[in-house]
Amino acid sequence: MSNYHIKSFEEYFQVYRKSIENPEVFWEEIAEEHFTWRKKWHNVLSWDFTKPEVKWFEGAQLNVTENCLDRHLSTRGDKTAILFEPNDPNASAEHITYKQLHERVCKFANVLKSKGIQKGDRVCIYLPMIPELAISVLACARIGAVHSVVFAGFSATALSTRVNDCDAKMVITSDGSYRGAKTIDLKGIVDDALEDCPGVDAVLVAKRINSDINMKTGRDHWLQPLLDDAYGDCVIEIMDAEDPLFILYTSGSTGMPKGMLHTSAGYMVYSAYTFKNVFDYRENDVYWCTADIGWITGHSYIVYGPLANGATTVMFEGVPSYPDFGRFWDIVEKHKVNQFYTAPTAIRALAKHGTELVEKHDLSSLKVLGTVGEPINEEAWHWYNENIGKKKSPIVDTWWQTETGGIMITPIPFSTPTKPTYATLPFIGIQPVLMDENGKELGDNQVDGRLCIKYPWPSMARTIWGNHQRYKDTYFSAFENMYFTGDGALRDEVGYYRITGRVDDVIIVSGHNLGTAPIEDAINEHQAVAESAIVGFPHDVKGNALYGYVTLKDSGENRDHDNLRKEINQLITDRIGPIAKLDKIQFTNGLPKTRSGKIMRRILRKIACNEADQLGDISTLLNPEVVDEIINNAI
Ligand code: PRX
Repeated sequence: MSNYHIKSFEEYFQVYRKSIENPEVFWEEIAEEHFTWRKKWHNVLSWDFTKPEVKWFEGAQLNVTENCLDRHLSTRGDKTAILFEPNDPNASAEHITYKQLHERVCKFANVLKSKGIQKGDRVCIYLPMIPELAISVLACARIGAVHSVVFAGFSATALSTRVNDCDAKMVITSDGSYRGAKTIDLKGIVDDALEDCPGVDAVLVAKRINSDINMKTGRDHWLQPLLDDAYGDCVIEIMDAEDPLFILYTSGSTGMPKGMLHTSAGYMVYSAYTFKNVFDYRENDVYWCTADIGWITGHSYIVYGPLANGATTVMFEGVPSYPDFGRFWDIVEKHKVNQFYTAPTAIRALAKHGTELVEKHDLSSLKVLGTVGEPINEEAWHWYNENIGKKKSPIVDTWWQTETGGIMITPIPFSTPTKPTYATLPFIGIQPVLMDENGKELGDNQVDGRLCIKYPWPSMARTIWGNHQRYKDTYFSAFENMYFTGDGALRDEVGYYRITGRVDDVIIVSGHNLGTAPIEDAINEHQAVAESAIVGFPHDVKGNALYGYVTLKDSGENRDHDNLRKEINQLITDRIGPIAKLDKIQFTNGLPKTRSGKIMRRILRKIACNEADQLGDISTLLNPEVVDEIINNAI
């Protein structure tokens, strides 16, 4: 018998040991007993981190949607699969049962086929958090098309870059979206983006806000009439274990966003197994993850993980602040949510508004609280624990990444004793190590460890779409024979991990991963700008905010700096999206550089963080004289 549901700390240790001592036997049992396969594997795992190449369940055949939908129909057909809570608090929630979801996915899959989408084709999904988003994801998986969901807060430029990078044939969008009291013209953004995307020959448009939009003849199609005419069953496409399931873009230190490619069998097994255990999901629970399906958290823990377990998963269209900051607690009470999973930035934003709006609601259904996306500070942890969990619901601080596909370091609720700001222990099968800068393994209680993983796990990304060399360079070259996460961490005397933050030029703002390079590129497009550098600085709600140092081509005294700041932020909004806007912009006469001309961000980061007294030796800089000027004018 496999250990699919871990129920005590002792059991965690036993299962963990088993998963490390004999990973193949362990994962084989989990896969065999809890999933539906069309053909069994001939090899559980083959791997070589030097290439790098990793294959799980080779030879197996399956379809992930058969596991998420069909196999539940006989036992859970009338159970709610997706509980959709709309933006408008007065509109009724929609309960979509497994039977209905199956039918809607099948119809959607048939529409995709009728528009020429075949196994292996890429389909870009740019939708708000409405049921069609989850349904289109599953419809792609059903016919073997590779979905690439782009968060519907990204700009037209960001969308077109992602569409072109994976050569998507189709875009699925809606006329618009609701965001609190505002509406957003999504279709207009898609139209702008597609001016630069010659490979897209079809756009499916869901009606959400009933706005008057342009439909391009021959290319754009309203979704609903097509669905109405589609047949309500669709045979699954049989997929090989390592066939692509989806691409999801994430920011890197430099260059283009990276299209992380996840494959079918390993991703399904790991997202399902982690979901069951990290949230202690029981059959009649109502589970809610507040993320957007545009991020990996939504892929693994709104769609695939929960549905593979036959769970009820809440999808919320709106924002935490509408109609007021009590909305989350209103939803928890209304739907009797048992597991609640959110980001530290949301907790901090809600905590700022006090406890009055919390106390108005009955939160007694809550059993497990989760956080993800960035380190949680101690104050936010205690606020969450006391006011939301009433000191009874364990907090699972889950560390993982787009690249890892599933949760990697986390407490198991009701088993692992929690410790504020610590993600605690590796999940089953995960072998983390801390390395120093020189490639030496570190012990406990040492600062500045670089977090690496030394053994493959089933849901790891297999490559960067179209650029395997970059995959190797980014993740497998810093340390020999290891996956390097890009995060710093320490481990305490009992083996608990604390993630301290990124050690590269990625900055996590409100839980969103932002690379500095694309933001700098956007700023540098401004005709008045000579060069720029972005760093992060601590922010009490967002975790980090962005500080931009901008050198102008002509620093004439009478420049309108406030106007320039607005124009720069507008450029960033246009090129990336509002999430990447800068909180502070300082105009400088030059940026500190090494003799080889590289901008010394370390120095700029210290100044932005008010730590200019800790700059260390700057005499080897090419231009040490600019540093004083930057310190004196710091904002
Ligand atoms: O720096 C870590 C941080 O978020 C990064 C991954 O971001 P992304 O790929 O967008 O995925 C976010 C959701 C899984 C990590 O490299 N991060 C994520 N979770 C935590 C975290 N930092 C500290 N504690 C966490 N629990």
